[in-house]
Amino acid sequence: MSAAATKQFLKAIAARRTIYALKPELPSGVSINDVQEVVQAIVKDTPTSFNCQGNRAIILTGETHKSVWDSVVNAIEGDNGKKRPASARDEAFGSIIFLTDDKTTEKLQADFPAWSAIFPSFAEHSSGAAQISTWTAIELLGLGGHLQHYNGYVKAALPEGAIPQEWTVQAQLVFGLPAAEAGEKTYIDNPVKILN
Ligand SMILES: Cc1cc2nc3c(=O)[nH]c(=O)nc-3n(C[C@H](O)[C@H](O)[C@H](O)COP(=O)(O)O)c2cc1C
Repeated sequence: MSAAATKQFLKAIAARRTIYALKPELPSGVSINDVQEVVQAIVKDTPTSFNCQGNRAIILTGETHKSVWDSVVNAIEGDNGKKRPASARDEAFGSIIFLTDDKTTEKLQADFPAWSAIFPSFAEHSSGAAQISTWTAIELLGLGGHLQHYNGYVKAALPEGAIPQEWTVQAQLVFGLPAAEAGEKTYIDNPVKILN
């Protein structure tokens, strides 16, 4: 560990952006197993409340990715809502589906009733942490990605038996080869104070 390592880490965080323009390819020298390795490591190492380890993820590619997003396109009403799912289907290489295991949350609620009400949000916090770490890491591999939330539609469209019924879909990180730069991003003045 060193200041240089911290700088590298912050650089990676700043480099992660929403990339909507994608091609259904992987960068040269990157395989889907590399993506799987990244997701596996992040799901393992992302902290969870009481170390409950309730984060889950699956990766969709090929026909499954296409058919899931095609089902979402068909299920959504109105052209506005279809835009991102259609682009995921036609322009992305795959999608990482982040989930949480409700059984894990329910066990925590039974074991620690005093915190029962907050465990569902803790599960979402930890999933969010895994999502953004994964987004950052895959963009370091040369991929581009955008985060979507067609959660119920995606769960309904997954192949039968792909996941246990008690897993809740939290988000979809749609990825592919970047076809254009990220859009402009503006920042508010948002100082972090130190109080002594
Ligand atoms: C918790 C969270 C939820 C988001 N949900 C969506 C979403 O449903 N659809 C979408 O297109 N982008 C979504 N985004 C992407 C944000 O719009 C994007 O991160 C933000 O505009 C900043 O741009 P950047 O990602 O390029 O830094 C989400 C981002 C976060 C952190």
